[in-house]
Amino acid sequence: AYVIALPCVDVKDRSCVDECPVDCIYEGRRALYIHPDECVDCGACEPVCPVEAIRFEDDVPAEWGDHTASNADFFAAV
Ligand code: SF4
Ligand code: F3S
Repeated sequence: AYVIALPCVDVKDRSCVDECPVDCIYEGRRALYIHPDECVDCGACEPVCPVEAIRFEDDVPAEWGDHTASNADFFAAV
């Protein structure tokens, strides 16, 4: 799945939400999150984020921390 990573925090541009064909991008308190089981890996959201926060899960820079886990944890908590 794709994930939303660190640059989204406190930016929350929301351009990605309009692009997602399956509406799997959800709003959290400080960032948005992609539901890992609902994302169909279409990639449509990735180029529209102005801060390049969206990456395929294997392509998130390590220095940003484990955003694959943090995206999954967001949905485990709700
Ligand atoms: Fe939605 Fe496609 Fe982005 Fe997944 S890759 S979050 S399905 S727009
Ligand atoms: Fe965040 Fe970028 Fe979407 S800032 S809300 S991931 S367009």
